[in-house]
Amino acid sequence: MKIRVEKGKAEKFPCEILLLFVFESPQRLEGSLQDVDSEWKGFISTLMKQEDFKGELFECRLLYTHGMFPAKRVLLTGLGKREEFDIEKWRGASAKAGQFIRDSGIKQFVFPIRKFDAFSEEALAESFVTGLLLGVYQFNEYKTIERNKIKEIDEGIILGETDLEVELIDGGLRTGRIISEAVCLARNLINGPSNKVTPTVLADRAQQIAKDHVMECKVLEVTEAESVGMGAFAAVARGSQEPAKFITLEYNKGKELETIALVGKGITFDSGGISLKPSEKMERMKDDMSGAAAVLAIIQAASELQLPFHLVGIIPATENLPDGKAYKPGDILKTLSGQTVEVISTDAEGRLILSDALTYSLRYQPRAVIDLATLTGAIVIALGDYVMGLFGNDESLLKRVEEASGKTGEKAWRMPLWDEYFENLKSDVADFRNVGTRSGGAIIGAIFLSKFVGKTPWVHLDIAGPASIEKERPYIPRGGTGAGIRLVLQLLRDWAR
Ligand code: BES
Ligand code: ZN
Ligand code: ZN
Repeated sequence: MKIRVEKGKAEKFPCEILLLFVFESPQRLEGSLQDVDSEWKGFISTLMKQEDFKGELFECRLLYTHGMFPAKRVLLTGLGKREEFDIEKWRGASAKAGQFIRDSGIKQFVFPIRKFDAFSEEALAESFVTGLLLGVYQFNEYKTIERNKIKEIDEGIILGETDLEVELIDGGLRTGRIISEAVCLARNLINGPSNKVTPTVLADRAQQIAKDHVMECKVLEVTEAESVGMGAFAAVARGSQEPAKFITLEYNKGKELETIALVGKGITFDSGGISLKPSEKMERMKDDMSGAAAVLAIIQAASELQLPFHLVGIIPATENLPDGKAYKPGDILKTLSGQTVEVISTDAEGRLILSDALTYSLRYQPRAVIDLATLTGAIVIALGDYVMGLFGNDESLLKRVEEASGKTGEKAWRMPLWDEYFENLKSDVADFRNVGTRSGGAIIGAIFLSKFVGKTPWVHLDIAGPASIEKERPYIPRGGTGAGIRLVLQLLRDWAR
């Protein structure tokens, strides 16, 4: 879908469908709504007075204008009670309107934006575009039957009335588009199956992003990773025939800017290895590279938004499979940090590959390290499907994440890292075990990671719940969601200010 901004008035603009948003039982119609209503001889106000359209949250109503003014149709979308309005509802309403238009087979829309209360044209435009593009996302790559029945909107035009409005809307539109396209890039990788999205494909994608955005990308083969000392990453990779890759993608390399390392878990399929998972729902484990996809997306968007940071994306990418050569419970691994780990379960592979990646990230002397990982089933038990676990060793970094979380609607809930939990990870034969008790599983996973970042400010986002979802949400269709991307980008944008 192409979206652009033009100068014009809603009631004078010819289009397939004009988009208007309405609060529940408004005292009076405002802005464009009022202009269109008077052009339409009070049609909308009558409709609302008779309660044929109430403006309840996400309520949609298609109307025909019968030539009363240039738009062929009007779509009214409810925003709910004015006093309960927020940007998250706005993203949802934008998505619902977009889905309604798409499913009706309408190819083009016009939407007039006006600021109101504390909401600027720029902020409204950014979240409109975000909600819309993320809401109409579909993954159709592998559907071959009735491809001609796939519905898509071709064009959207946002209207501003003055040059200043147009300029502000254009800024918001651009930001929203960059961020949404990055999220959709990640969703495509996550929804792609493990026979298509291999570690090699992740590495190729990183190289492509580097080429398109003039960045640095370095890919280590497992043998190279092993020879620099990444014994944990190499061990996990041993059970797979698919070549593993250790990917580093660097934006603003060599510039005098603060360095932030982003580490993403890149297990393209997690069978559990020798500690094999039950087969029920095992197909979901193609999403175990959601952290990796997020890192690629964040770096692409950061470069397009020209955020003033030196970003280092680090992605250990491999499958986790059982095989004659696979690593086994009881094995002792030497990590890049020099610390040794006794493998209790080969299904706790994420923390193993991340331990080497986190240690590696410290070579860049980062101001902060942020990792994103579908690390534990336990975090889903603790927080449910829509909330990520937030862990960290630095109060001010944690606060930044929480603030960004509030702004983006990507919920992150703080979890503890108390020493008591570490007792669990002590081993008789090595420095640590890779698994503790089942209770407190997400915290124990995070504690394990904390042993590989030293004193560097670090946060760990356990995105196992929200990385992919079975029940759609207003602007998040079923499947891979791109969790964590908007949150980290917001954090970086706020930090840059
Ligand atoms: N990839 C899984 C975690 C996961 C579970 C992600 C459910 C998404 C949905 C991870 O590698 C794993 O298997 N973790 C184990 C750890 C355990 C063996 C300590 C788990 O959560 O059961
Ligand atoms: Zn696992
Ligand atoms: Zn895993």
